[in-house]
Amino acid sequence: MIGKLNINKSTPLDSLGDMFGIFFEDINHAADGGLYAEMVQNRSFEYAPIDNPVYHFLYAWEKVEHAGCKVELTIEETDPFHKNNPNYLVMSVTGSGKGAGIKNLGYNSGFAVEKGCNYKFTCYARNDRKTPVTLTVTLEGDNGAIYGVQQIDVFKSAWQKYEGELTADKTDYSARLVLALPKEASIALDFVSLFPEKTFLSRSNGLRADIAQFLMDMKPRFMRFPGGCVTHDGSLNDQDRDSMYRWKNTIGLVEERPVKRSNWMYNQSLGLGYFEYFQFCEDIGAKPLPVLPAGYDPHHQRMVPIDELGPWIQDALDLIEFANGDNTTRWGEIRTKLGHSEPFGLEYIGIGNEEVGEPFFERYPYFHKAIKKKYPDIKIINTSGPNAAGSEFERGWKCAREQGSDLVDEHYYQAPEWFIANHYRYDEYSPEDPKVFLGEYATWGNTWYNALVEASYMIGLERNARVIGLACYAPMFANVDYVNWRPNLIWFDNHRVFGTPNYYVQKLFMNHQGTCRLDIKAEGLESQPITAEAITGQILLQGYESKCKFTQVKIKNDDTGEEILLGDFVVEEGDEPMFAAVTNWENYTLNCIAEEITGEKGFQIYFGWKDKENHFRWTIGGWQNYDMFLAHRVDGRNSDLSQGLFRVEKGRGYELSLRVKGRYITAAVDDEEHLMIEDKQVITQPLYYAASIDEEDGSVIIKVVNLKQDDVSLEITINGAAGRMNGRVFEMAYQPEEENSLDHPENVVPIEGEISIYGNRFSFTFQPMSLTILRLTDEKKI
Ligand code: AHR
Repeated sequence: MIGKLNINKSTPLDSLGDMFGIFFEDINHAADGGLYAEMVQNRSFEYAPIDNPVYHFLYAWEKVEHAGCKVELTIEETDPFHKNNPNYLVMSVTGSGKGAGIKNLGYNSGFAVEKGCNYKFTCYARNDRKTPVTLTVTLEGDNGAIYGVQQIDVFKSAWQKYEGELTADKTDYSARLVLALPKEASIALDFVSLFPEKTFLSRSNGLRADIAQFLMDMKPRFMRFPGGCVTHDGSLNDQDRDSMYRWKNTIGLVEERPVKRSNWMYNQSLGLGYFEYFQFCEDIGAKPLPVLPAGYDPHHQRMVPIDELGPWIQDALDLIEFANGDNTTRWGEIRTKLGHSEPFGLEYIGIGNEEVGEPFFERYPYFHKAIKKKYPDIKIINTSGPNAAGSEFERGWKCAREQGSDLVDEHYYQAPEWFIANHYRYDEYSPEDPKVFLGEYATWGNTWYNALVEASYMIGLERNARVIGLACYAPMFANVDYVNWRPNLIWFDNHRVFGTPNYYVQKLFMNHQGTCRLDIKAEGLESQPITAEAITGQILLQGYESKCKFTQVKIKNDDTGEEILLGDFVVEEGDEPMFAAVTNWENYTLNCIAEEITGEKGFQIYFGWKDKENHFRWTIGGWQNYDMFLAHRVDGRNSDLSQGLFRVEKGRGYELSLRVKGRYITAAVDDEEHLMIEDKQVITQPLYYAASIDEEDGSVIIKVVNLKQDDVSLEITINGAAGRMNGRVFEMAYQPEEENSLDHPENVVPIEGEISIYGNRFSFTFQPMSLTILRLTDEKKI
């Protein structure tokens, strides 16, 4: 026995509220080609190069010509069935053979159809000729084998919706949907759609049941949507194809919703829109948490003039009414007409997604005031940008404090080591401030090590429930064949889905969150003091997508005063970083004058360089030449330590000064300090632990993470418990590099067992590299 854990069951502490939830963004084809069950890709012939340079109106469609017949495919827009979907296909067959048509290739390897399952087909069609035409719709194998067929007579010269059902007589994950006409026929076609009959909860325009079930199984307390960058990337005109995500465009008849260019280089059908999001949240018992744009696109520096913000603010107010208003309100009535008369019970709204720059903070207060005036109980979420520290981060928090925001959205993706080193980050936050919404976070990776480190961090989140309101891992989904971003929580193709180790950690924390934190104290688990490792190694210079000149480069030992002149350097654009010096000093300053000669961005100074995958970096003129940041790369994984705004002007010399003292780094330009940060030393604690109570069933929940390679045995005392307690144990203990995949989806999963204790004291051994959750309930309550 090396230690003890003492839990006090009698006096619950902070409420855990809605702490652990999920983040949905249509990234990596999370919606179209993912959760949204539509099987046809480019169903309304709207794919265009604005979405992706390789797209065209017939993307994912191909001709099918049987012997003796030819098909001509033209995209027209003179008389669409709805103005929001301007393109439609005119398909004309010539020749005397067995007809011709088109096939849709679906997503991934094609249409995943299963023997005996039904599929709902719809399309809009118009027949401009006098004689009726039979459209033959088939599900086919790649070799032309027919699995299901439906014939539809298209006779009207006006647009008409046609529906049919296809039953597959074979399982094939690479099938095609074929629409064919007989010889010498022609029709106009649009909005060609195929859904499996078995969607999640059998909803029409529904979700893929297998993927949705993964989310339901997590029991998230909330779901944030629709992003992410997709929220604010786009033009200011809601009628534009390229518009920001405007919720009103995403409700109503699905075929009348305009499609949209996505920030992630594809096309969003918006078939999964705000009504569906709210409905899904309700279905899985998660509180909805929509995030709206604030009339500012930080990616392209587009901003609505302040005196034209009215409609944007009205969108936010209308959304709240849409979610919560009764049938007598305009938007409540619209919701009722869409099939949901009861309110959706919206409690949270986010304004802005990780906005960077003053224009957001000029606009946010107008939203805040208007929302609070009309809906004082709605909790408003402000944002602190995409970094864990720095001037933009501070600006977000300052604005939130001044405005009285209820929560602040923090985002960071970092190396596992950063998460270990920053385990106590929130212990220093003030309960007087707005609460934290940790709205996007992840370590870089989907191995068990990543997941376990995240679990240790989540223990810190739970411990700090007094300052943390909400937290969700991001991103949630990736289709394996359309990856914009990794890691992700859940991966899938067109018929399979698997959870990463990170998913199972999130799921365990959600399934066993509890309602209130319990006091938990350890004895004998003190960590050994560690001497902080100094930031020593090589110093290298590089242009950041530019050709640069570094002159008067010198390094000074701030302990001894010794100074070494390193000389002048010119680094061509695209060159590897150029060696300037190596130092084992622990307290030093590097000075130089840097000038961008050609290029678009700025410069980079590497320091503490061990190798390509392990070093520190100061980037000046990063991210669209809009900011500067300090980063630490460990084993090939980056952590952004601090960030601020900065633009490099070509042809101008900047006096750069980088001071390193122990693990403190200060970066100054022209004598002005821009970034100051401590890169915290990684200290792995002997154990990470938290306890909570679920007041619904009286369970005491103990979560323990062992990040070390040795097991740890503890004596655990639950003060306030008496008699027999029974319960379950969930353990995950794996080798650090283990992961899940489509072929091995359950390589890393929780193992469930039973536990029974008598009295209030018991012993337990926590395995190396493990997460353990003990859930204990008084026998009489079971
Ligand atoms: O989660 C992926 C992206 O990371 C989100 O779209 C954005 O908010 C963040 O930069």
